[in-house]
Amino acid sequence: MKNQTLFFQFFGLQILVLLGAIGFVAGYTWFVTQEAFKRQWVKELASQAQVLASVLPDNQGEVQQAEVERVFKRVAGTGGYRFTCIRADGVVLADTEVDALKLQTHKDRPEIREALKNGTGFQTRYSVSLGKNMLYLAQRVPAEGPAKAVIRLAVPERTILHELTLSKQMMVLLVVFVFLVALSVSYWTSLRIIGPVSDIQKGVQQLGNGDFSVRLQIPPVPHLAHLARAINQMAERIEKLSTIRQDFVANVSHELRTPVTSIKGFAETLLDGAKDSPKDCERFLGIILRQTTQLESIIHDLLELSRMEHNSFQNLDKFPTALEETIRNAVALCQSRADEKGVTVRISSEPGLIANIHAIFIEQALLNLIDNALKYGVTPEAPFIDISSAREGQSFVITVKDYGHGIPSAHLDRIFERFYRVDKGRSREMGGTGLGLSIVKHIALIHGGSVRVTSELGKGTAFTLALPV
Ligand SMILES: Nc1ncnc2c1ncn2[C@@H]1O[C@H](COP(=O)(O)OP(=O)(O)OP(=O)(O)O)[C@@H](O)[C@H]1O
Ligand SMILES: [Mg+2]
Repeated sequence: MKNQTLFFQFFGLQILVLLGAIGFVAGYTWFVTQEAFKRQWVKELASQAQVLASVLPDNQGEVQQAEVERVFKRVAGTGGYRFTCIRADGVVLADTEVDALKLQTHKDRPEIREALKNGTGFQTRYSVSLGKNMLYLAQRVPAEGPAKAVIRLAVPERTILHELTLSKQMMVLLVVFVFLVALSVSYWTSLRIIGPVSDIQKGVQQLGNGDFSVRLQIPPVPHLAHLARAINQMAERIEKLSTIRQDFVANVSHELRTPVTSIKGFAETLLDGAKDSPKDCERFLGIILRQTTQLESIIHDLLELSRMEHNSFQNLDKFPTALEETIRNAVALCQSRADEKGVTVRISSEPGLIANIHAIFIEQALLNLIDNALKYGVTPEAPFIDISSAREGQSFVITVKDYGHGIPSAHLDRIFERFYRVDKGRSREMGGTGLGLSIVKHIALIHGGSVRVTSELGKGTAFTLALPV
């Protein structure tokens, strides 16, 4: 219904414009043709009048009625025109169709007055004596010098217009033809545009209703194709985001449920009587505390992620920062844990690297990488973590490397996903949430950079953070 209205609005307007344009052109052409036709006739009549004037007898400067009548009688049978001869004072001397005596003075007839004044006079008007519209042409005799008489020719206007009828019919035919052609072209273009527009409208409506699986057909109209493509891209993105969000919510719920179930279970056991045994009480409370800490760190990481996500939509506050300092700060934060494990953290920085970064975030990313290396990477046989920084082309790269067990290649693609852990049991035991690397990736992305991993089983793992210069 709505599309119909849109179509008719669009199409109706085109018809109106078409009608207006064709009507104007046709009217104007008709007017011009008619005028040209009349002018042609005037010329023709004028030459006739001149011919007649030249055969009129002229006796010592006077036009004699009897002689004029004689000439007129002969002329009367020859053609379709009505001839009248009027003396300079207005008295009608002869007429080929009406008895001259019955005619009053013609002095006031505009064409006569004009002819007496300028030589030729012309007018179209209703003739009372003939009862129809006539075209009059008057010619003064002689053309120059004092006027003696005026020869007037009259043709029914219908005679002239009759000849125009044929061209009029042709023109009407042409106008109808042009209009029909224009109408079908306009109908076709309207359909071609309104069709896709209404498809797009339907698609967007579906999107609005939450159906992100819609994909629009790409219409053949360039601008609309552009629009449809943009909408498809948007739908794709929204669909992807919505799946990620759904997965995320499911994951978060799952991750939270494990410690909560455990806390609830041990609390119930305590209430059921275990609290009476000081040994059990201490053990169970210890477990509850550990699970609570796990919950706390999940919540902390989630908040961190959401903070970063929020930041990525705005302009990140970046400042020129010495990379070496950022690396040292990150290392300082886990130095005591490294010392506890007997791990040596070695830093080799290319000197003087200044990067435009959000230092706190980059520090957090490095911390997560060093934390992982300490938790899953280092072995007593290779208790080292190497951190290096350098400029490579248009990027600054920071690499955190350990010489431990490595990560099976099947997992490498997925470890940056939220909550993804290679060894779930071991990670959880270590208090991991599986969010650390997704935070690293996020930090890299909001800097316009990237993170990648290379790992070889039994030889170690290297994470490389690349940031644009
Ligand atoms: N250097 C490494 N060596 C071996 N495995 C690693 C290393 N770094 C990460 N992993 C594996 O990748 C998984 C994902 O790491 P991530 O940092 O995202 O989560 P996590 O360390 O388990 O939890 P969190 O960092 O939130 O405490 C880890 O569980 C671990 O199995
Ligand atoms: Mg981690």
